[in-house]
Amino acid sequence: MSKNNTYILAIESSCDDTAAAVLYNDKTLANVVAGQAVHEQYGGVVPELASRAHQQNIVPVVHEALRKANVKKEQLNAVAFTSGPGLMGSLLVGTSFAKSLAMGLNIPLIDVNHMQAHILAHFIDEEGFDKPQFPFLAMTISGGHTQIVRVDSYFEMTVLGQTLDDAVGEAFDKSAKILGLPYPGGPLIDKYAQLGNPKAYKFTKPKVGDLDFSFSGLKTAVLYFYQREIAADPDFVEKNRNDICASIQYTIVNILMDKLKKAVKQTGITQVAIGGGVSANSGIRKALKDAEGKYGWKTFVPKFEYTTDNAAMIGIVGYLKYTQNELEATEYANTQVMAQSRLKL
Ligand code: KG4
Ligand code: ZN
Repeated sequence: MSKNNTYILAIESSCDDTAAAVLYNDKTLANVVAGQAVHEQYGGVVPELASRAHQQNIVPVVHEALRKANVKKEQLNAVAFTSGPGLMGSLLVGTSFAKSLAMGLNIPLIDVNHMQAHILAHFIDEEGFDKPQFPFLAMTISGGHTQIVRVDSYFEMTVLGQTLDDAVGEAFDKSAKILGLPYPGGPLIDKYAQLGNPKAYKFTKPKVGDLDFSFSGLKTAVLYFYQREIAADPDFVEKNRNDICASIQYTIVNILMDKLKKAVKQTGITQVAIGGGVSANSGIRKALKDAEGKYGWKTFVPKFEYTTDNAAMIGIVGYLKYTQNELEATEYANTQVMAQSRLKL
């Protein structure tokens, strides 16, 4: 079987985005994402509602991806899907759909780890975007995870440090919620931060050992700060929104950069890639660019559409697994493969 002309359909449904993509080898032909507005009013993802929305979205999203790619399902060589980590009820929708489709088309089914996909998204062929060389460091920063990973090859990854409590995206979203901003608040903090003074207010950084992170203290610090200031002036947030957001973002970016610098020092690896929803943040993007001149790092920031959850990143992992010669047909996911909410890297 020739693996030079591979069409892969990829499905991602681990959290609150229903996504499907079609890849031709390592190129994205279509990358469709249906978000779920239903969670906004609750200030966070409601798992049962997410699962129901995935069930409504999955068929139209897959249709749309195939239509945009101009690929017929009979042309597909394999179906890749996220098997974890994520919300169980959400994962099950994508998993069941992928299994049935692969079975119906009689083609391989490839299970993909969502966190591995955030890292390997850097290997999607895109004009103007370099691919990292092995070994490199990857920092995955999202609403569910915060990890620093050493990447020695496509499938050899070692977690060097991770959050002990909240993920960095949660720190953004929960701080935003305290300030009265809608969910997800990360992009809004980013937007206001760009207009404010990052040194207007000071939030202490957590003291956590080695390369691990902790963000729950920051959320509490923001809450106490808010309560104190609002007691003195009820309009405090309206008057100072930009400065507050800039100061929170500055603190978070500093926490991330401090750990990255430590990881570079410990490993001697100066190629640094980021991935996950928070890698869309303008503050972390700028800090990484600055590190190129300041410390001589080579940094990799994914194309915007591959930062937040998407299926193209699942597709590239599917493609890499499919074309690895050592991977025998029996090593593809069989239909017994289960969704795993706590799947490790
Ligand atoms: O990777 P992702 O789409 O989903 C998870 O796997 O969690 O990440 C979503 C997270 C949310 O917490 C969202 O607020 C955050 O990414 N996010 C941002 C920005 N864009 C998305 N946080 C800060 N600044 C942004 N520009
Ligand atoms: Zn994600």
